[in-house]
Amino acid sequence: MGNLDDILTAMAEEDFSEAANIAEIQMDFGHSMWTAMMEQGMSADQILAMKQQMRAKGMGRGMGQGMGQGMGMGRFMTEDFRAMGATFHEAATAFAARARRAASPPTATDYKETTEALQAVTSSCRACHDSFRIK
Ligand code: HEC
Repeated sequence: MGNLDDILTAMAEEDFSEAANIAEIQMDFGHSMWTAMMEQGMSADQILAMKQQMRAKGMGRGMGQGMGQGMGMGRFMTEDFRAMGATFHEAATAFAARARRAASPPTATDYKETTEALQAVTSSCRACHDSFRIK
């Protein structure tokens, strides 16, 4: 909820690269690790560069937050819940990619298409909440 609010704030301020950073660091696979690095004072650029390096080596997803095979919280999730989490992370990544292509200042088309991409993120929030409750 906080990340979504921060993304909308950044978009309203025409700062689409900040909106993309939030989605890529706080909402992608491995977000607990990236967020911890942020708290230890690494910059968004440093974290994104590290993420790219790890992905290039086939790591990152394997860290398990998404797929449940590693040390992250994914290993405690059911198959269906993991799949919904994966959809959510993919929607956030797609939003970030579209936000990074925006002009500065963003055009009306940039606003329209990033809003569509962000709506795919919120529809995955909604789909998961419609299906799962903690009891
Ligand atoms: C993969 C499933 C999943 C996705 C995706 C997901 N959530 Fe949730 N969310 C949950 C579950 C499970 C809870 C626990 C509350 C419950 O039992 O309903 C929860 C709780 C919450 C809460 C209450 C937190 C609290 O402190 O009580 C908020 C707010 C929330 N989600 C917002 C969001 C937003 C915004 C998104 C998308 C940006 C999102 N969620 C995406 C599964 C998900």
